[in-house]
This record gives sequence, structure tokens and C-alpha cells, in this order.
Amino acid sequence: MKQPAAQAVHLADYAPPPWLVDEVHLVFRLSPQATRVLSRIRFRPNPATEDRTFRLDGDGPRLVRCAVDGAEAAPEVREAGLTLTPPDRPFLFEAEVEIDPEANTALSGLYMSNGMFCTQCEAQGFRRITFYPDRPDVMAPFTVRIESDLPVLLSNGNPGAAGKGFAEWHDPHPKPAYLFALVAGDLVPQRDTFVTSDGRAVDLAVWTRPGPDEGRCAFAIKSLKTAMRWDEAAYDLAYDLDVFNIVAVDDFNMGAMENKGLNVFNSSVVLASPATATDDQFAVIEAVVAHEYFHNWTGNRVTCRDWFQLCLKEGLTVFRDQQFSEDVRSAAVERIRQALAMRGQFREDAGPLAHPVRPESYVAVDNFYTATVYEKGAELVRMLKSIVGDEGYRDALRLYFARHDGQAVTIEDWLQVFRDATGTVPEHFGRWYSQAGTPRVTAEEEWEPKESGGGTYTLRLAQETPPTPGQPCKAPMPIPVRTGLLGADGSELVEERVLLLEEAAGEWTFDLPERPVPSLLRGFSAPVILRREADDAERAFLLANDPDPFARWEAGRRLATRLLCRMAGGARADDALPQALRALATDDAPDPAFRALCLALPSEDDVAQALHDDGAAPDPDAVHAAREALRLAVSKAMEDVLPGLRGAMRVTAPYRPDAEQSGRRALWGAALGYEALLDAAPAQAAYCEATNLTEEIAALSALLAAGHGAAEAEDFRERWSDERLVLDRWFSLQVRFAAPEKAAGTAEALARRPEFDLRNPNRFRAVFGALAGNHAGFHNASGAGYDTMADWLLKLDALNPQAAARMSTTFETWRRFDPDRQARAGAALDRILAAKDLSPDLREMAGRIRDA
Ligand code: ARG
Ligand code: ZN
Repeated sequence: MKQPAAQAVHLADYAPPPWLVDEVHLVFRLSPQATRVLSRIRFRPNPATEDRTFRLDGDGPRLVRCAVDGAEAAPEVREAGLTLTPPDRPFLFEAEVEIDPEANTALSGLYMSNGMFCTQCEAQGFRRITFYPDRPDVMAPFTVRIESDLPVLLSNGNPGAAGKGFAEWHDPHPKPAYLFALVAGDLVPQRDTFVTSDGRAVDLAVWTRPGPDEGRCAFAIKSLKTAMRWDEAAYDLAYDLDVFNIVAVDDFNMGAMENKGLNVFNSSVVLASPATATDDQFAVIEAVVAHEYFHNWTGNRVTCRDWFQLCLKEGLTVFRDQQFSEDVRSAAVERIRQALAMRGQFREDAGPLAHPVRPESYVAVDNFYTATVYEKGAELVRMLKSIVGDEGYRDALRLYFARHDGQAVTIEDWLQVFRDATGTVPEHFGRWYSQAGTPRVTAEEEWEPKESGGGTYTLRLAQETPPTPGQPCKAPMPIPVRTGLLGADGSELVEERVLLLEEAAGEWTFDLPERPVPSLLRGFSAPVILRREADDAERAFLLANDPDPFARWEAGRRLATRLLCRMAGGARADDALPQALRALATDDAPDPAFRALCLALPSEDDVAQALHDDGAAPDPDAVHAAREALRLAVSKAMEDVLPGLRGAMRVTAPYRPDAEQSGRRALWGAALGYEALLDAAPAQAAYCEATNLTEEIAALSALLAAGHGAAEAEDFRERWSDERLVLDRWFSLQVRFAAPEKAAGTAEALARRPEFDLRNPNRFRAVFGALAGNHAGFHNASGAGYDTMADWLLKLDALNPQAAARMSTTFETWRRFDPDRQARAGAALDRILAAKDLSPDLREMAGRIRDA
């Protein structure tokens, strides 16, 4: 299949579409190697522009015939599309094309997965199906007829006529082509119904292949119904079609896709049973099902004008799924998980791939489905909400849907809604969308005692954002800093406040009875890095006393990171952190899930990043050794309490994947992991006695991380050889826990096994995502990690450019390390860039990573 031309597109070049579409009618005659697509498209001149150029995107379809108003036409067909001289009025365009779904290994457009036809059109897959103005600001109602002998034929919207060998679908809601979907196969539904707040019954179904997967849909359906109810209650948004279908697909590039009325999901984020999915996976399923459902309004009903505005739908929808998870689970724990996800964004911001939440140019738009657009994009919505308040936010969102329903809009439209609804949006908030990089906020304080007792406390905050590729200078942005001031006994001396730092620097004073310990950036109130000359004693105080759970967790995190940095430089583990963790682990007051999060040490990548921030070149081996040593020190400090903690957290009730049980299992697993460093027996027993996958994986991981578990791993592989998703875990654990000098070899050997399938992105991620996650292994001084990764990225690129480009981000930190490692990583990148027939996707990524 031909690749699109590798030319950069710029936001500044946006022009409205010359032709709009009133109606689309598609007929699919399905055949694995020769599917015919017949299109009838009603075009009308766009009154908003004089331009009458007629050009349709097309990437791969072979044109069989084409007509304008019924008369045969002879368009010019080039690599990237089709042009012809159009009439000077509305007209009907008809085309018949042929495509080859079986040869489509890129998993974009119409492709086959296990004998099933399915589609992925976001961002630019529709042009691989037929000729069309494949841009989100062209919206139209679609009618689709599918002709095939396969038993189940699905598309967007509501079902129409159906009979032997065909089915028709009509989607009355105008939509861009990227939301088109078609699925056909031997599928079985798990059904349910949902009655909307306005009393309409909606038929819900999750479709899988016949067999064991049928029994693994209940949790997704339950999550879907919870999400539908939540959107009505929280946003007053109800569903708008008669059916809502979800299909589980094994071969899928991303997590899932919000196609109107027909969501397509990677099996890994929809199918679950206690035996085949872990608690974490259940939580992800709940969040992704909600995320895709919420897109029905934030994304589908109101969509993006162009792909530069991607955060308009993704940032907002991630924020909405976060709110949902905070409501149905523990808000504090969810917020900490979100902050952990934001570390990936900080890493992106600190490296060669840094880009604004709304980028200004791209070669392959699929390369911009990033942590910055998604996670930081969500943080911007959260900040807006905290600045305008809950009511202001509610009013703004109400206006957003009233004003823009059925439209394709921009970030300017979004911000205007806030201005009009609340009048209080800070002038420079828009800079958050256009400036890349993570702001550094420094805090300084002063205490002036008064003779009468107490004193005046001054807090000075200043901000600075480091340069990023293409953006050397940054202007100040409005930063909400949620702040508490604590007395020596841990009480709040004043009511918590949000300090809005709008300029480069700001100052706040407080009259207080005693000198406070500040608790800053509570709830992670802004996506910034807080720089403060705090000592370990103060961090330990906050870890023990801060009433804000996020700030408390963060204090522990900082304490551990600082200690690990010192240890990587040769210092010995001191006892303060192990003792603090021991105190927390055995304190029954906080939620077990919270305690489990506190017991998890920062990753080696986090420590390397911290060393780099301090101006040092991290030594991955020293970081690895430091973390191992600290884990052992924590185990020893807790040795006497671990068995009791494990016993107390053990769940004996029937399995439920809810926050309460999974929190207990998480703390149980954390205790088991520390215990395994001292004694393998409890984890070996736990592996044998496990009654669900969460316990099984926790026990196996505990063993592998302690240098045991070979027999258990082999047993695991044999028992789960027929379960693709569970077997992915086995692939991943092998690499993740391999010794640093063996990690690359292990990945290579796994990739040569018969069960490894380059066409399945989940399996590729299981092996090579784990290689990247084995920090000391990937960055091993031999360069084997870099070489193996480059070899397999090139193999994958030949089949699936999007997936290869995505995985190449594993190289983004290469400039952190010493010259020798940099030379080896640079050589691997050069080898990628020199490859013949490299895709534009991977070329763009490897080039950006190499050049910065
Ligand atoms: N819109 C989808 C989601 O966030 C992501 C699909 C992106 N796919 C892609 N190939 N770029 O839910
Ligand atoms: Zn999304």
C-alpha cells in the first residue's frame, strides 16, 4: 500500500473546504482481497469560500469508474487523491473503487482481523477506503449498505433494512469521515438495554468472536451503563441513537475508537474475567468504555475543525473520563494515578518530541496522539474549571453544546465559550495551548515574627518554562497553585486557597500564629514542576501529616526520588524513608490503595529524569542498583510487619473488581513483593493458591523481581497458551524482569518464538514496550537494547508504520545519557533513518528524536 506524501501540514495554512457534503451513500461488497466500495456523494459549494477546487483524498483505492451527475467522468488520480473540474453548482459524485483488506497490515482503513472485517478511520484511514474530502470539518449524514454472506454486518447509526446477504444502516447525525465504521464477521452479541433520562430505550451490545470471549463482556456492559447514566447526571447529556454497539478486535493500533454508534475496541480494553484480567485492567476497561462513550458528545456531536485541534476532543474527553473515575472510584487514588500518567508527559516535554497541546505542524497526524495532547490537554480543562469554579464550568459547557452542536470547531471557540459564559478566563490562558514545555514554579518564603506573637508569612512564587524545540522563549501562563499552610501539629492554619500565579512572579502574605509548613500544588492543581528548597525532614512531615492525599503522596515520592539520586551517586540508604513507609503501611487509616501507591518506589526512569534535571548524566546501572538496594532496605525495615499486612489485606470474598477490593489486593501484592526479596516461599505459595489473575500476576512478578520464578513462569505460559491477552503478560514479564545485560537478548528470543506475531500490535508492545520499560536493560552500555529495538522497529514499519512510529518514542530520552550511550543510540536512530522504504510516520519521529 502506498504511503501518503511526506509533507508537513501547518495550522497557519488552514483554509475552509471548497465543497461541503450534504449526503453520503456507501455500498460495500465485501471480499477479503477485493472489496468493492460504491459511493454516492452529494456535494455543494461552500458559501464561506470562493475557492472551487475539487480534490478528494484517496490513498490506495483503485478507481474502477466515476461519474458526475450520472455522466461518466475522467478525473485525474494521483498518489494522494483525485481531482476533476466540478460543475458550478451542487452535484452528485459517484465512484466505484476496489480495495484489498487482507493486505492491509497497517490496520488503518478497512482491514481483516481473525477473519473479521473492521475499520479504523481516525485520523486519515477513510481515504484508504474510498475517495472523499477526508477532513473533520466536512460533516455529513451517512447511509451504508453492506453486502456479504457473513452473519453480522454493522455500521454507524441506526439499523435499517436487512436480509440474506445484506444490511443497511443510517446515521442521521452529520459526522466527519474519521467517525465512519464498518464491522462484518461471525460475531455474537452480549445484549442489554438502557433507558435514557428522556425515556428512550437504547439497545446495547458488545460483540465478540464466538467462544470464551462471549463470557467476558459483562463488565464492559456494566461500565457502559454507568457511564451513560453519569453523563446524564453530570453533564445533562443523553445518548442520541437507538443502538450502541461495541466490537472487540484483537488487532488494533490504539486502545479504542469512538465511531458514532459503533465503537471499536482493542480486545485488551473490553474483554475481562477475573481469571483473565487484572484489577488494573478492569479499571482501564471501565475508563476506556466511558471515554469512548463520552466522545459521543465531546468529539462526535461537537468535533474538531482540523487535526491541530485534536485536544479539543481528546483533552476534554480524558478530563471527563477522569471525573467519572473519580466519582465511581476513589478520587484521591485516581488523582495520584493521573499524576503518574503526567510523568510521561513531563518526559515528553523535556525531550526532543516536546510540542504544544495544540501543535502547529505535523507530517503524520497519527504521531500527535500523545501524552501532551491527551493528558496535558485534560489538565488544561481541569485548570480552567478550577479557575472559573464549578458553576462557571457548568455554564460554559452548557453554552459549548448549545452553540456548537453539529459543528467542527477550534480551541478559540472553546475559550470564547468560557469567556462568554463566565467573563473570568485569564487573558493569557491560551498560551497553555500554544507553548510547549513544563513550567518550573519556584517557591520562596519569608517569616517575620511579631512581638505580639505569631508573625507574617510571605510566599513568593515565580515561573519559568524552559525552551523546547522551535520555541526558545516562553511567556508566563496563569498557574493555579492550590495551597495549604500547616502548623507544627499538622493542622491547617488557614483555609486552603488557590493562588493564581498569572505573571512571571507573585507574592502572597498571611498573618499566622506560627511559622507554617507550606503544602503547595495540592491535588496537582497545575501541570508544573514545583521547585522548592525543602529538606527531607519537611517532606517526611508532609508525608506523615498533609491532609491532602496527593500532596502527601508527592512528598513521599520526592523523598524517595532524592534518596535514590543520592544512592545512585554512591550514598547508602538511610533509614528515614524505610521507616516512614513502614509507618504508613501499618497505619490503618488511609485507604489500602493509597498505601499501595505510596509503597511503590519511583521508577528508574523517574530517577534518571531527576538526575538529568539536576544537570547530571544518569548512569542506568547505578540507578538500577540504587533502586534494588532501596527495595531491599524497605523490605528489611518492614520485615516483621509484612506477613501481618499481607494477611490483613488478603481478600477471601468472591472476586469483585471494584476500588475497595482492588485496593486491598494492591497492598497485598506490594507486601508480597517486598517479602519476596527476603523469602520466596510466601510468593510461591501465593502463586499456587491464586484464585484470579491479579493475585497470580502479583505473585509471579514478586518472584521474578526477586530473581526467582522460572518454574512458575513456565507453568504460566503453558496454562495460558491459548489466551492471547494473558499470554501477552507472559511475554511482557519475561522482558521486564530480565537482568539488564540480558533484556535485549530476551526480547529478541521472544520475538522469534512462533507465538510472536508482528501483525498484532498488542504482542509487539508486550515485548518491546517491556524492553523500553526495562530501563537499565534498554540503556545497557553494550547498545544491545538500542540495536534490538531498531531492528524490530524496522521490521514492524514495513507492515504497520503507525505502530512503529509510536513505539519509536522509546528513544526520546537518549540525550540524557553519557557520550558513549548517546553514540550508540544515535547510531541506531541513524540506521532507522537510512532504511530504504522507511514510512513517513517513522521518519518523522526518528528524525525529530535524532535532530533535537
Ligand atoms: N480517538 C481515539 C481515542 O482517543 C484514538 C484513535 C486514534 N487512532 C489513531 N490511529 N490515531 O479514543
Ligand atoms: Zn479519545
